Amino acid sequence: MLVSRSCAKRLLASAGRAARYSSTGTSQLNSVTEQDIEYFSKILPKTSIISTLAPISSPSDELNSFNSDWMGRFHGRSTTVLKPKTTRQVSEILKWCNERRIGVVPQGGNTGLVGGSVPVHDEVIISLSNMNNVRNYDPVSGVLVADAGCILQSLTDYVAPHNHIMPIDLGAKGSCHIGGNVATNAGGLRLLRYGSLHGSVLGLEVVLPDGSILDQLTTLRKDNTGYDLKQLFIGAEGTLGVITGVSILTPPQPQASNNVILSLPSFDNVLPLYQTVKRQLSEILSAFEFIDRTAYNLAVKHGQGRALPESETVGAECFILVETSGGRREHDSEKLLDLLESLLGADKPLINSGVLSQSPAEFSSLWALREGVTEAVSKEGKAYKYDISVPLASFKQVVDDTREHLRSKGLLHDKAVKYVLGYGHVGDGNLHLNIVADAYLPEITDALEPYIYEVVASHRGSISAEHGIGAMKTHALHYSKSDVSIELMKKIKAVFDPKGIMNPGKVLE
Ligand code: FAD
Ligand code: MLT
Ligand code: ZN
Repeated sequence: MLVSRSCAKRLLASAGRAARYSSTGTSQLNSVTEQDIEYFSKILPKTSIISTLAPISSPSDELNSFNSDWMGRFHGRSTTVLKPKTTRQVSEILKWCNERRIGVVPQGGNTGLVGGSVPVHDEVIISLSNMNNVRNYDPVSGVLVADAGCILQSLTDYVAPHNHIMPIDLGAKGSCHIGGNVATNAGGLRLLRYGSLHGSVLGLEVVLPDGSILDQLTTLRKDNTGYDLKQLFIGAEGTLGVITGVSILTPPQPQASNNVILSLPSFDNVLPLYQTVKRQLSEILSAFEFIDRTAYNLAVKHGQGRALPESETVGAECFILVETSGGRREHDSEKLLDLLESLLGADKPLINSGVLSQSPAEFSSLWALREGVTEAVSKEGKAYKYDISVPLASFKQVVDDTREHLRSKGLLHDKAVKYVLGYGHVGDGNLHLNIVADAYLPEITDALEPYIYEVVASHRGSISAEHGIGAMKTHALHYSKSDVSIELMKKIKAVFDPKGIMNPGKVLE
């Protein structure tokens, strides 16, 4: 439903009178008022608005899940969630919010791990969950065009009968949206094979803060016509506009996929193993994932995947999950078996043992062990999650040093930090360093920061390899970006969002 110009003007004037300024840090932004709700009710059906304000007056607990992040670490105080169904509706909402200076938080599946998807104060939340249609699919080129609110798993299911897969896969696939994936430039489990979304996203439709619709929803593989604007929105975490449509290249489904979990007596063997595996499996290697002993134990404890036979894990310091994806089952299995034979038959074996999946169910259950670490950690306690890029050789050192650092501060005991663990995407140089405690306590954060960021900076690494900056790391951006870079980022933000309404307090301070 569209709203007439005169009606919008009238409401805008009355809303302006009623506006009260937020007493929070984002003092230039206004809180949502009843007049705003009146206006939103003219754009959206009432069933698409959740608000504690009249005339909607939803019970406040309906807002809880939108105001809290997946980890239960970040909490906002939004009074209002809007669930548009069309790009035009998003445009009308943003135009109004921009004129009224109301902060806006785009929310996808709310699975983000850096507090980017929930308000810092009382911004309005635009949930993309009602924008969930596939717009077009070409099974010849493999180009999929979909609404931003499509759940990743549903897109995987959509392209499967056409023998294609999504170029991205991650543990949150059952909830996260493709728009959220693009907004965070999510990495995940297939990056080693298919590269980042900067490569596979072909086009985007984005609503800018002033309500204008940037239609870059091209399906072209090649288009060198000046600045590639869509790249700016990939990884912008909703700070430049709301992504409403995504055009993405889906690769053909591999004819054969296998996986194996290797147990290693020492972390020192990971690098030589990676070199050997790359050399021997070459083009069929599609994932090389790392799980340290503590992460493995937690995954098993919390029933993620199926535990390996105990005999295969004795003396293992860490585990590597290797996946192959290729064109011919016999050829791939032979290569994998040859690899295992040569690894186990070596004079000084790099591995203790390997458990090879023998069926699709076993294949999934080995993956579930690795993907399930996140869930296991969250069941164990509160996770302080650091998603860093550092040289592969230092993965273990970083985890061990962090543990010792916490011990030296007297924080490694039952009442504070219970576990320090590492897992991640070795093939991408991305370590997930997790510290698990019973609660989020300032003394633990103070012990971890800036300690971890300084370690990362000493390696010229990244403080966020794939999860983004969100609200969690704005203060630490300078550990990975120079002053000149940050200044340019601020200028870009000002070009798109001069009033600063888009996801305030995220990415940039
Ligand atoms: P949300 O959490 O809703 O939002 C994330 C950010 O994107 C916010 O800043 C939000 O404002 C913005 N945003 C969302 N939708 C839009 C939109 N349409 N337009 C503009 N901005 C938008 N991440 C990885 O990179 N790799 C992994 O392997 C991985 N595994 C995970 C496993 C689990 C179990 C969980 C819980 C999380 C994992 N994540 C991973 C983190 C998270 O799933 C990803 O960041 C994901 O891409 C977020 O998608 P979402 O739809 O849930 O976005
Ligand atoms: C993963 O690789 O499992 C995800 O990035 C989530 C996490 O870091 O826990
Ligand atoms: Zn990851």
